[in-house]
Amino acid sequence: MMSFEHIQVRPLSGSLGAEVQGVDLTVASDAVWDEIRQAFRERMVLVFPDQRLDPQGLAKVGRQFGELIYYPFVEGLPEEPFVIPLIKEASETKIFGEGWHSDTTYTEQPPKATALYSIEVPDTGGDTMFANMYQAYETLSPGMKELLAPLRAVNSASARKGGGRAAGNAYQSVKLINRDQKLEGIHPVVRTHPETGRKALYVNALHTTHFVGWREAESKPLLEFLHRHKALPEFTCRYKWRPATFAIWDNRAVQHSALNDYQGKRREMWRISIAGETPA
Ligand code: SIN
Repeated sequence: MMSFEHIQVRPLSGSLGAEVQGVDLTVASDAVWDEIRQAFRERMVLVFPDQRLDPQGLAKVGRQFGELIYYPFVEGLPEEPFVIPLIKEASETKIFGEGWHSDTTYTEQPPKATALYSIEVPDTGGDTMFANMYQAYETLSPGMKELLAPLRAVNSASARKGGGRAAGNAYQSVKLINRDQKLEGIHPVVRTHPETGRKALYVNALHTTHFVGWREAESKPLLEFLHRHKALPEFTCRYKWRPATFAIWDNRAVQHSALNDYQGKRREMWRISIAGETPA
Protein backbone atom coordinates (compact mmCIF):
# COMPACT_ATOMS: atom_id res chain seq x y z
CA MET A 1 0.00 0.00 0.00
CA MET A 2 1.17 3.52 -0.74
CA SER A 3 0.81 6.05 2.00
CA PHE A 4 -2.08 8.52 1.67
CA GLU A 5 -4.33 9.99 4.34
CA HIS A 6 -7.77 9.52 2.73
CA ILE A 7 -7.38 6.75 0.14
CA GLN A 8 -5.87 3.25 0.01
CA VAL A 9 -3.62 2.87 -3.02
CA ARG A 10 -2.39 -0.61 -3.96
CA PRO A 11 0.15 -0.71 -6.83
CA LEU A 12 -0.72 -3.05 -9.72
CA SER A 13 2.89 -3.79 -10.66
CA GLY A 14 6.41 -2.55 -9.93
CA SER A 15 6.18 -0.20 -12.90
CA LEU A 16 2.81 1.59 -12.93
CA GLY A 17 -0.87 1.47 -12.07
CA ALA A 18 -2.73 1.30 -8.80
CA GLU A 19 -6.07 0.20 -7.47
CA VAL A 20 -7.68 2.78 -5.21
CA GLN A 21 -9.98 1.55 -2.47
CA GLY A 22 -12.13 3.24 0.12
CA VAL A 23 -13.52 5.93 -2.19
CA ASP A 24 -16.98 6.70 -3.55
CA LEU A 25 -16.12 8.94 -6.50
CA THR A 26 -19.59 10.50 -6.59
CA VAL A 27 -19.17 12.09 -3.16
CA ALA A 28 -15.38 12.45 -2.80
CA SER A 29 -14.24 15.63 -1.01
CA ASP A 30 -11.68 18.10 -2.38
CA ALA A 31 -9.06 16.60 -0.04
CA VAL A 32 -9.73 13.14 -1.50
CA TRP A 33 -9.53 14.49 -5.06
CA ASP A 34 -6.19 16.16 -4.27
CA GLU A 35 -4.81 12.79 -3.18
CA ILE A 36 -6.31 11.02 -6.21
CA ARG A 37 -4.61 13.52 -8.53
CA GLN A 38 -1.32 13.03 -6.71
CA ALA A 39 -1.64 9.24 -6.99
CA PHE A 40 -2.48 9.67 -10.69
CA ARG A 41 0.74 11.63 -11.30
CA GLU A 42 2.74 8.93 -9.51
CA ARG A 43 1.09 5.76 -10.88
CA MET A 44 -0.33 7.06 -14.24
CA VAL A 45 -3.14 4.48 -14.24
CA LEU A 46 -5.74 4.36 -11.46
CA VAL A 47 -8.63 1.93 -11.09
CA PHE A 48 -11.51 2.35 -8.67
CA PRO A 49 -13.65 -0.77 -8.10
CA ASP A 50 -17.29 -0.73 -6.95
CA GLN A 51 -18.39 2.64 -8.32
CA ARG A 52 -22.06 3.29 -9.19
CA LEU A 53 -22.08 5.63 -12.18
CA ASP A 54 -24.68 6.50 -14.80
CA PRO A 55 -23.49 8.26 -18.00
CA GLN A 56 -23.85 11.74 -16.44
CA GLY A 57 -22.11 10.55 -13.28
CA LEU A 58 -19.22 9.20 -15.35
CA ALA A 59 -18.91 12.55 -17.15
CA LYS A 60 -18.94 14.36 -13.80
CA VAL A 61 -16.19 12.17 -12.36
CA GLY A 62 -14.17 12.63 -15.59
CA ARG A 63 -14.40 16.43 -15.25
CA GLN A 64 -12.45 16.20 -11.99
CA PHE A 65 -9.46 15.46 -14.27
CA GLY A 66 -10.20 18.14 -16.89
CA GLU A 67 -12.54 19.23 -19.64
CA LEU A 68 -14.20 16.42 -21.66
CA ILE A 69 -13.76 16.16 -25.43
CA TYR A 70 -15.54 14.09 -28.07
CA TYR A 71 -13.98 10.96 -29.53
CA PRO A 72 -13.80 11.67 -33.29
CA PHE A 73 -14.99 8.35 -34.72
CA VAL A 74 -17.61 6.85 -32.39
CA GLU A 75 -21.13 8.10 -31.63
CA GLY A 76 -21.78 8.98 -28.00
CA LEU A 77 -24.74 7.96 -25.86
CA PRO A 78 -27.86 10.09 -26.50
CA GLU A 79 -28.15 11.03 -22.82
CA GLU A 80 -24.44 12.00 -22.54
CA PRO A 81 -22.64 12.37 -25.90
CA PHE A 82 -19.19 12.60 -24.29
CA VAL A 83 -19.63 8.95 -23.23
CA ILE A 84 -19.05 6.39 -25.99
CA PRO A 85 -20.18 2.81 -25.48
CA LEU A 86 -17.63 0.16 -26.48
CA ILE A 87 -19.52 -3.08 -26.94
CA LYS A 88 -18.34 -6.42 -28.18
CA GLU A 89 -21.26 -8.81 -28.49
CA ALA A 90 -20.61 -12.51 -27.89
CA SER A 91 -21.07 -13.10 -31.64
CA GLU A 92 -18.38 -10.56 -32.64
CA THR A 93 -14.68 -11.25 -33.03
CA LYS A 94 -13.00 -7.84 -33.36
CA ILE A 95 -12.50 -5.43 -30.48
CA PHE A 96 -11.80 -1.71 -30.11
CA GLY A 97 -8.35 -0.70 -28.89
CA GLU A 98 -6.33 -3.86 -29.62
CA GLY A 99 -2.59 -3.19 -29.87
CA TRP A 100 -0.33 -0.83 -27.93
CA HIS A 101 -1.20 2.83 -28.38
CA SER A 102 -1.72 6.22 -26.82
CA ASP A 103 -5.16 7.56 -27.74
CA THR A 104 -5.91 9.53 -30.92
CA THR A 105 -2.33 10.76 -31.43
CA TYR A 106 -3.55 11.66 -34.94
CA THR A 107 -5.19 14.77 -33.47
CA GLU A 108 -3.36 18.05 -32.80
CA GLN A 109 -4.16 17.94 -29.10
CA PRO A 110 -4.64 14.32 -28.08
CA PRO A 111 -6.53 13.68 -24.83
CA LYS A 112 -4.37 13.90 -21.73
CA ALA A 113 -6.32 11.05 -20.20
CA THR A 114 -8.92 8.46 -21.10
CA ALA A 115 -11.31 6.79 -18.68
CA LEU A 116 -13.33 3.59 -18.92
CA TYR A 117 -16.21 2.41 -16.81
CA SER A 118 -16.99 -1.31 -16.96
CA ILE A 119 -20.63 -2.27 -17.47
CA GLU A 120 -20.26 -5.95 -18.37
CA VAL A 121 -17.06 -7.99 -18.55
CA PRO A 122 -16.31 -11.66 -19.21
CA ASP A 123 -15.46 -13.88 -16.22
CA THR A 124 -12.08 -14.48 -17.76
CA GLY A 125 -10.35 -12.52 -20.51
CA GLY A 126 -10.87 -8.94 -21.67
CA ASP A 127 -8.14 -7.49 -19.45
CA THR A 128 -6.46 -4.21 -20.38
CA MET A 129 -2.67 -3.84 -20.39
CA PHE A 130 -0.77 -0.61 -19.71
CA ALA A 131 2.90 0.29 -20.31
CA ASN A 132 5.03 3.00 -18.73
CA MET A 133 6.45 5.33 -21.41
CA TYR A 134 8.73 7.19 -18.96
CA GLN A 135 10.52 3.92 -18.29
CA ALA A 136 10.50 3.02 -21.98
CA TYR A 137 12.35 6.29 -22.68
CA GLU A 138 14.65 6.24 -19.65
CA THR A 139 15.97 2.74 -20.43
CA LEU A 140 17.16 3.68 -23.93
CA SER A 141 20.89 4.17 -24.48
CA PRO A 142 22.36 7.69 -24.54
CA GLY A 143 23.03 7.22 -28.27
CA MET A 144 19.41 6.33 -29.01
CA LYS A 145 18.13 9.22 -26.87
CA GLU A 146 20.34 11.59 -28.88
CA LEU A 147 19.01 10.20 -32.17
CA LEU A 148 15.37 10.53 -31.07
CA ALA A 149 15.69 13.98 -29.45
CA PRO A 150 15.07 16.12 -32.58
CA LEU A 151 12.64 13.70 -34.27
CA ARG A 152 8.97 14.34 -34.90
CA ALA A 153 6.59 11.68 -36.15
CA VAL A 154 3.46 11.66 -38.29
CA ASN A 155 0.43 10.00 -36.70
CA SER A 156 -2.45 9.26 -39.03
CA ALA A 157 -6.03 8.17 -38.46
CA SER A 158 -5.84 6.48 -41.85
CA ALA A 159 -3.05 4.15 -40.77
CA ARG A 160 -5.79 1.51 -40.50
CA LYS A 161 -3.80 -0.75 -38.29
CA GLY A 162 -6.45 -0.85 -35.58
CA GLY A 163 -8.16 1.55 -33.25
CA GLY A 164 -11.70 2.84 -33.38
CA ARG A 165 -11.81 4.12 -36.93
CA ALA A 166 -10.26 1.16 -38.70
CA ALA A 167 -11.46 -2.28 -39.67
CA GLY A 168 -14.72 -0.84 -40.99
CA ASN A 169 -17.79 -2.89 -40.27
CA ALA A 170 -15.84 -5.33 -38.10
CA TYR A 171 -17.20 -3.36 -35.14
CA GLN A 172 -20.90 -4.00 -35.62
CA SER A 173 -21.78 -2.81 -32.12
CA VAL A 174 -19.54 0.27 -31.99
CA LYS A 175 -21.31 3.03 -33.94
CA LEU A 176 -18.58 4.49 -36.13
CA ILE A 177 -19.07 8.05 -37.44
CA ASN A 178 -17.02 10.40 -39.67
CA ARG A 179 -15.03 7.48 -41.01
CA ASP A 180 -13.69 9.45 -43.98
CA GLN A 181 -12.35 12.24 -41.79
CA LYS A 182 -8.61 12.62 -42.49
CA LEU A 183 -6.87 13.39 -39.22
CA GLU A 184 -3.13 13.75 -38.84
CA GLY A 185 -1.02 14.80 -35.87
CA ILE A 186 2.70 15.58 -36.02
CA HIS A 187 4.26 15.19 -32.59
CA PRO A 188 7.67 14.87 -30.94
CA VAL A 189 8.89 11.29 -30.65
CA VAL A 190 9.88 12.05 -27.07
CA ARG A 191 7.49 14.35 -25.21
CA THR A 192 7.91 16.08 -21.87
CA HIS A 193 5.06 15.61 -19.43
CA PRO A 194 3.72 19.09 -18.59
CA GLU A 195 3.07 18.26 -14.92
CA THR A 196 5.97 16.00 -13.94
CA GLY A 197 8.63 17.36 -16.34
CA ARG A 198 9.64 13.76 -17.17
CA LYS A 199 10.32 12.62 -20.73
CA ALA A 200 8.24 9.85 -22.28
CA LEU A 201 8.34 7.92 -25.54
CA TYR A 202 5.44 8.99 -27.79
CA VAL A 203 5.26 6.76 -30.89
CA ASN A 204 2.78 3.92 -31.26
CA ALA A 205 2.16 1.02 -33.59
CA LEU A 206 -1.49 1.82 -34.35
CA HIS A 207 -1.14 5.43 -35.48
CA THR A 208 2.51 6.41 -36.14
CA THR A 209 3.41 6.07 -39.82
CA HIS A 210 6.89 7.65 -40.14
CA PHE A 211 9.34 10.26 -38.89
CA VAL A 212 9.10 13.72 -40.43
CA GLY A 213 11.73 13.98 -43.21
CA TRP A 214 12.13 10.17 -43.39
CA ARG A 215 10.44 7.72 -45.76
CA GLU A 216 8.08 5.10 -44.30
CA ALA A 217 10.50 2.30 -45.29
CA GLU A 218 13.36 4.13 -43.52
CA SER A 219 11.26 4.78 -40.43
CA LYS A 220 9.96 1.23 -40.13
CA PRO A 221 13.00 -0.54 -38.60
CA LEU A 222 13.48 2.10 -35.90
CA LEU A 223 9.74 2.28 -35.16
CA GLU A 224 9.62 -1.50 -34.90
CA PHE A 225 12.48 -1.49 -32.42
CA LEU A 226 10.74 1.20 -30.35
CA HIS A 227 7.40 -0.65 -30.42
CA ARG A 228 9.08 -3.84 -29.17
CA HIS A 229 11.12 -2.02 -26.54
CA LYS A 230 8.28 0.03 -25.06
CA ALA A 231 6.14 -3.05 -24.38
CA LEU A 232 8.76 -5.03 -22.42
CA PRO A 233 6.93 -6.90 -19.63
CA GLU A 234 8.79 -5.03 -16.90
CA PHE A 235 7.25 -1.73 -18.07
CA THR A 236 3.68 -3.04 -17.88
CA CYS A 237 0.76 -3.86 -15.66
CA ARG A 238 -2.44 -5.74 -16.47
CA TYR A 239 -5.88 -5.13 -15.07
CA LYS A 240 -8.58 -7.76 -14.71
CA TRP A 241 -11.91 -5.96 -14.74
CA ARG A 242 -14.99 -6.53 -12.67
CA PRO A 243 -18.22 -4.68 -13.49
CA ALA A 244 -18.66 -1.17 -12.04
CA THR A 245 -14.95 -0.26 -12.10
CA PHE A 246 -13.81 3.22 -13.11
CA ALA A 247 -10.30 3.38 -14.60
CA ILE A 248 -8.30 6.32 -15.91
CA TRP A 249 -4.90 6.50 -17.60
CA ASP A 250 -2.53 9.30 -18.57
CA ASN A 251 -2.00 9.14 -22.34
CA ARG A 252 1.07 11.38 -22.02
CA ALA A 253 3.00 8.78 -20.04
CA VAL A 254 1.21 5.49 -20.73
CA GLN A 255 0.23 3.29 -23.64
CA HIS A 256 -2.47 0.66 -23.37
CA SER A 257 -3.72 -2.38 -25.22
CA ALA A 258 -7.06 -4.19 -24.95
CA LEU A 259 -6.74 -7.98 -25.04
CA ASN A 260 -8.91 -9.86 -27.52
CA ASP A 261 -9.07 -13.20 -25.67
CA TYR A 262 -12.77 -13.59 -24.86
CA GLN A 263 -14.38 -14.94 -28.00
CA GLY A 264 -18.01 -15.88 -27.48
CA LYS A 265 -18.41 -13.52 -24.53
CA ARG A 266 -19.90 -10.04 -24.22
CA ARG A 267 -18.04 -7.01 -22.92
CA GLU A 268 -19.37 -3.47 -22.54
CA MET A 269 -17.41 -0.43 -21.40
CA TRP A 270 -18.25 3.28 -21.39
CA ARG A 271 -15.41 5.56 -22.37
CA ILE A 272 -14.66 9.28 -22.03
CA SER A 273 -11.72 11.44 -23.21
CA ILE A 274 -10.20 14.33 -21.24
CA ALA A 275 -8.74 17.30 -23.11
CA GLY A 276 -4.97 17.52 -23.46
CA GLU A 277 -2.41 20.05 -24.64
CA THR A 278 -0.23 20.13 -27.76
CA PRO A 279 2.54 17.57 -27.09
CA ALA A 280 5.94 19.24 -26.62
C1 SIN B 1 -9.38 1.66 -25.50
O1 SIN B 1 -8.34 1.46 -26.13
O2 SIN B 1 -9.79 2.80 -25.28
C2 SIN B 1 -10.20 0.50 -24.96
C3 SIN B 1 -9.45 -0.31 -23.96
C4 SIN B 1 -10.27 -1.47 -23.46
O3 SIN B 1 -11.41 -1.69 -23.90
O4 SIN B 1 -9.77 -2.21 -22.60
